[in-house]
Amino acid sequence: MLNQDAEYQSCIQSSERVSWRVDDLLPKNTVIDFSRRILSDALIGAEGIRCLSADEKLKLNHIRTNSYAHLFLFLEEYVVALMTQRAGLELHGNPVHMRALLRFTEEELKHQQLFARYTALFADGFKLQPALLDNHVQVARAIMSKSPLAVLIFNLHMELMTQQHYVETIRGNDEEALDPLFSNLLKHHWMEEAQHARMDFLEAQKVLAQHPEALEQAMTEYAELLTALRGTLVAQLELDLQTLEKAVGRTFSAQERSEIHAAQERSYVWTFIGMGMKAPLFLSRVRALSPVAEQRVLALAPTYYCQ
Ligand SMILES: [Fe+2]
Ligand SMILES: [Fe+2]
Repeated sequence: MLNQDAEYQSCIQSSERVSWRVDDLLPKNTVIDFSRRILSDALIGAEGIRCLSADEKLKLNHIRTNSYAHLFLFLEEYVVALMTQRAGLELHGNPVHMRALLRFTEEELKHQQLFARYTALFADGFKLQPALLDNHVQVARAIMSKSPLAVLIFNLHMELMTQQHYVETIRGNDEEALDPLFSNLLKHHWMEEAQHARMDFLEAQKVLAQHPEALEQAMTEYAELLTALRGTLVAQLELDLQTLEKAVGRTFSAQERSEIHAAQERSYVWTFIGMGMKAPLFLSRVRALSPVAEQRVLALAPTYYCQ
């Protein structure tokens, strides 16, 4: 228990050290630069689409970046519910754990504000209101209907996935000359998410120590959450295609539509699901919870394009 206290205390200290304000990263008068790629093509998968011109691929890069920011805002909705619940369990219990978990919750609310501000600025500059999913509360409730251990493992996946995106495709990526504004925003998100991923693991360990029998069901539910996430990603992808048609001013033929859809589904699934499952830190954390849990993750991997 003492060791755990030190871990939570260290999360608080790291969180205090790296903390930032939304206004510093994204002042309200910020103008978004649409002359270059915002996210790496490794996360967008536009370059390989044969039926799009270079200009159209750039438009797709921008639309997908906006959806990426929106999906974080969207998914952070359940994290706020999850961490409010975990912090509440420590009321009159362990104040260090509770404080760390409350900071976690506050940071996710701040991230939601950051991403909401970004998508509003994006819509202003893009001269077109991109179509975005709006069922975030319904999705958060569906996620929260699963067992706490399942949601903690799913969240560990999501938070380590964002880490992987930053480290693999943004940090030190000089080749693509990405938009520095969004790269900086994701850098600061990454700095706070590092503590979140540590706490997801600590909380999962806590649940597992009390209920070792919960693991089996949790891994089944984790797989169900990934299936549901895939459905949400495809729903956003269909909205992206509508926005893309408006932005480029032409209607795609059935053949073009199916080429773009297939490439984008592959990209969405790899970016949000495959990259998380393959993240070395996710696999080692899951293994530390239980080797059986790691086996379950590895068995699911081929479904999401990871070998
Ligand atoms: Fe976040
Ligand atoms: Fe987070």
